[in-house]
Amino acid sequence: MVTIKQALNNASSLQQHSDSWRLDAELLLAAAIQQQRGYLFTWPDEEISAEQLQLFQQYCARRSKGEPIAYILGRQAFWDFDLMVNPHVLIPRPETELLVEFAIELLPTEQFKKADILDLGTGSGAIALALASTNPNWQLTAVDRSGRALAVARENAQELKLGNIEFRQASWCDGLAPEQFDLIVANPPYVRSGDEHLAQGSLPFEPVMALVAEENGLADIRSIAQQCKYCLKKDAWLLIEHGYDQKDEVAKLLHESAYQNIECIQDLAKLDRMTKAQYPGQAG
Ligand SMILES: C[S@@+](CC[C@H](N)C(=O)[O-])C[C@H]1O[C@@H](n2cnc3c(N)ncnc32)[C@H](O)[C@@H]1O
Repeated sequence: MVTIKQALNNASSLQQHSDSWRLDAELLLAAAIQQQRGYLFTWPDEEISAEQLQLFQQYCARRSKGEPIAYILGRQAFWDFDLMVNPHVLIPRPETELLVEFAIELLPTEQFKKADILDLGTGSGAIALALASTNPNWQLTAVDRSGRALAVARENAQELKLGNIEFRQASWCDGLAPEQFDLIVANPPYVRSGDEHLAQGSLPFEPVMALVAEENGLADIRSIAQQCKYCLKKDAWLLIEHGYDQKDEVAKLLHESAYQNIECIQDLAKLDRMTKAQYPGQAG
């Protein structure tokens, strides 16, 4: 029989594959024995069953091949939640929580007791779920082209008992007009095809449809900029996440579509990670 401490020590071969191998091993073992991580430190000498050891070893083998912990465990922390994820959805990133924070700032409560918000490219539903939980009087519409991603987002909404989200399968704003929104948020694909980062970290395991965009990574941002102006109420905001080196190109696309007050927002590492822009409404 093997104890918790021994199982963790035996997982040191993960070291070659992950900088955070010890944490990875702890998370995987805790999941295999269906306990919280703290249990491992409270009961290091407890023996684990043969089945639990086998499951832990299977998890470690997958991690050794580079598979992200989130896909192995099927869960990822985001905002206040522990979201269900699978390889049909992007693993929600901490940077995207910043987008949620700025989205909330753009809808001051006194002015927006009620609000209609559109989340384009919802994936696991991360952004829509965070906004829907912030204010139950806000009505979210969450769009994705992938039916499989929407199935994950719907399941997350059900698990969290959030009823103020409507999910739609569509390409960006197709079929939405004449509906208009107080705020549109989007974390679209923006990685250039052939970008070296696509071979690194979790990216090889994540859906290409969630990551890569034509035109040097800008095709989807261009479509969103062009289409959203027909779906925004007068003076409403569009908030888009983008690559750290796309600030100027994104601003140009928004300017060409007649948005105003275009402003890039940096993340905590001072990287240019998202841009907000206001649409003044159709002239005439
Ligand atoms: C970068 S992921 C963002 C997922 C999620 N919003 C998040 O922040 O974690 C981009 C999402 O856009 C979706 N997508 C790609 N092309 C699309 C299109 N033409 N119309 C709608 N959604 C699209 C992908 O399926 C994917 O779920």
